[in-house]
Amino acid sequence: MATRTALVGGGATGIGFATAGQLALAGHRVVITGRRADALDAAAAELRAGTGGDVHWLAGDLADPVATAAVAAEVTGRYGSPDILVLNAGGPPPGRILQIDDEQWQSAFGLLLLGPLTLARLTLPRMAARGFGRVVFLTSTAVRQPQPDLALSVVLRSAVTAAAKLLAREYAAEGVTVNCVAPGPTATRRREQILTARATATGRTHADLDAEDAASVPAGRAGRPAEIGAAVTFLASAEASYVNGTVLTVDGGRTETI
Ligand SMILES: NC(=O)c1ccc[n+]([C@@H]2O[C@H](COP(=O)([O-])OP(=O)(O)OC[C@H]3O[C@@H](n4cnc5c(N)ncnc54)[C@H](OP(=O)(O)O)[C@@H]3O)[C@@H](O)[C@H]2O)c1
Repeated sequence: MATRTALVGGGATGIGFATAGQLALAGHRVVITGRRADALDAAAAELRAGTGGDVHWLAGDLADPVATAAVAAEVTGRYGSPDILVLNAGGPPPGRILQIDDEQWQSAFGLLLLGPLTLARLTLPRMAARGFGRVVFLTSTAVRQPQPDLALSVVLRSAVTAAAKLLAREYAAEGVTVNCVAPGPTATRRREQILTARATATGRTHADLDAEDAASVPAGRAGRPAEIGAAVTFLASAEASYVNGTVLTVDGGRTETI
């Protein structure tokens, strides 16, 4: 199997960390990124120890196009332009559609759309020139089944899904695929933040909301980050060459669409 270079956003924790581990186990060189150098350094060391893989890190704010471009340039300078791009970072703050102010819309637009598009712009043409590339956007089942208290995620990730579809068609003939993985509730820091916000907004207990959320999933539980990472790793594989422009929901069966 060919060894590829994978750039994984939000790789210090949660879904990004688990994905980085699985890509390393699949034999790829992995570069994780995020904003906190200390967390990335510790995560990369843990991933190297756990997988025996070739894991590196670079700090950068993926909501800032200038910093994002700097990350892309640095990765390319050190390891070559990435063959696999996992477009993942933090989620936007919760809030219902009319509670979000302009500043929050702008900030979430940078985090969810502009940063990932900057990375795509800088790396996809190079993937196409080499005849191989895999791009996976981490989104949310909120694009399939809207969640009223996650308006920023619902609206902007729908736009991200549309952008992924356009990108998928752009370089399909050159061996580049672009897909989305849409997780349902997954046991990470992000899920804890959402449950805490719901507890504050409703006056209900965190434990109560946790149990209710788990019960809404046919599998009866939140997902494990590795279960999301496995889906991303499949889409990043050479074998997934004919899967393009799709949204893979990984949600224990929760999404109620056919
Ligand atoms: N967990 C769920 O239930 C769930 C469900 C659906 C969708 N998602 C989505 O999945 C994605 C990953 O979340 P997670 O659950 O793995 O949560 P997480 O553990 O909080 O991970 C988020 C990661 O992104 C990094 N990050 C945040 N803002 C960033 C920025 N501006 N630039 C670069 N890195 C940034 C964080 O590191 P730093 O803070 O150091 O930057 C952190 O490592 C999020 O977009 C989330 O909305 C999660």
